[in-house]
Amino acid sequence: MAQSIPQTVKQWNVTGQNGPDSLQLSEQPVPQLGDSQVLVKLHGASLNFRDLVIAKGAYPWATIPNVVPGSDGAGTVLAVGRHVTRFAAGNKVVTALNPKLIGGSFTPPLSAFGLGASIDGTFRTAGAFDEQGLVRAPEGLSFVEAATLGCAGVTAWNALFGLPGRPLAAGHWLLTLGTGGVSVFCVQFAKAVGARVIATTSSAEKAELLRRLGADHVINYRETPEWGAKAKELTGGVGVDFVVEVAGPVTMRQSVESIKLDGVMVVMGAVGSGPENKEMPGLLETWMNLFTARGIWTGTRLQMEDMGRAIEANLEKLRPVVDPKVFKLEELKEAYEYLASGKHQGKVCIQIP
Ligand SMILES: NC(=O)c1ccc[n+]([C@@H]2O[C@H](COP(=O)([O-])OP(=O)(O)OC[C@H]3O[C@@H](n4cnc5c(N)ncnc54)[C@H](OP(=O)(O)O)[C@@H]3O)[C@@H](O)[C@H]2O)c1
Repeated sequence: MAQSIPQTVKQWNVTGQNGPDSLQLSEQPVPQLGDSQVLVKLHGASLNFRDLVIAKGAYPWATIPNVVPGSDGAGTVLAVGRHVTRFAAGNKVVTALNPKLIGGSFTPPLSAFGLGASIDGTFRTAGAFDEQGLVRAPEGLSFVEAATLGCAGVTAWNALFGLPGRPLAAGHWLLTLGTGGVSVFCVQFAKAVGARVIATTSSAEKAELLRRLGADHVINYRETPEWGAKAKELTGGVGVDFVVEVAGPVTMRQSVESIKLDGVMVVMGAVGSGPENKEMPGLLETWMNLFTARGIWTGTRLQMEDMGRAIEANLEKLRPVVDPKVFKLEELKEAYEYLASGKHQGKVCIQIP
């Protein structure tokens, strides 16, 4: 049965640069629907590290004042604009982080489009989204699970399979860092294609999750500061084929130590950065150690669709890992604090009524 269109939406806005204290909840008229837009009743959303950075005013890419935050969401289509061809009322959909990045390479103008930064995002009960920035929700996932795919999920997919001619393949060694959203997806995707995984983490409890997901070796980076050399040793001294570098300056030296000649380092974030930043490897090291360094920004809509099909076909292995602590929309500030604490495992999610 078609859902009725609400008159108003509850939404959060980023009203300053003081982190969670800058978040304000209000009730607003339901957004006007443009000809190429889709009105989505959001049922689930998830948090990403960038949401913390945006709320502090420290995001290095385009943002707009008072933006509705939220990089990831899933819900049901309530209505479509008159030029929309891809969706109809009742469809279950997931948002993509960049509605203009359909396929192919990133171009400078595309950096002006990011959900929850330069375009209103998903921390609200309903929103109007560009039809090109939505994909069908994979069958078999809850809305909250599906709401993890548009940022962390597709970034992990792109990291492992997006370098033309050099996808992660069966038998390869992958090194992942920590148990955040992107890294946990990487472990799951890698095991599904038959690769071998060495994962680092900070605690025995989190190590359990990684083992449950199939990681072949887990290294506690607090107990083993030279974990790069340890990872190399675990591959028989050869080194890992892929490193997915999410932590930045504090981990890059060890990531370089771990990699094999002609391996690939995918660089995408700096979740571990802080005042204690260590000495960073320089670009010459790609020559001295003969590896390829690839920076990425999210993934394309076509990659999201590929990932969705893979998840549907391997639901038990690829069901997104949602932290047991799921927050209500009204509890967004607590959710931001929980993500910032690093206590979570996998994705911190929001259930939207
Ligand atoms: N370029 C892109 O398109 C893109 C897309 C998504 C995310 N990112 C970036 O990728 C990074 C990770 O994002 P996320 O959403 O996965 O973050 P997240 O869920 O917030 O990840 C947090 C986890 O990272 C681990 N961590 C923290 N400091 C670490 C360190 N020094 N060494 C190793 N692990 C550490 C911790 O896990 P343990 O306690 O288990 O170590 C922590 O729980 C962020 O910088 C984010 O901005 C980039």
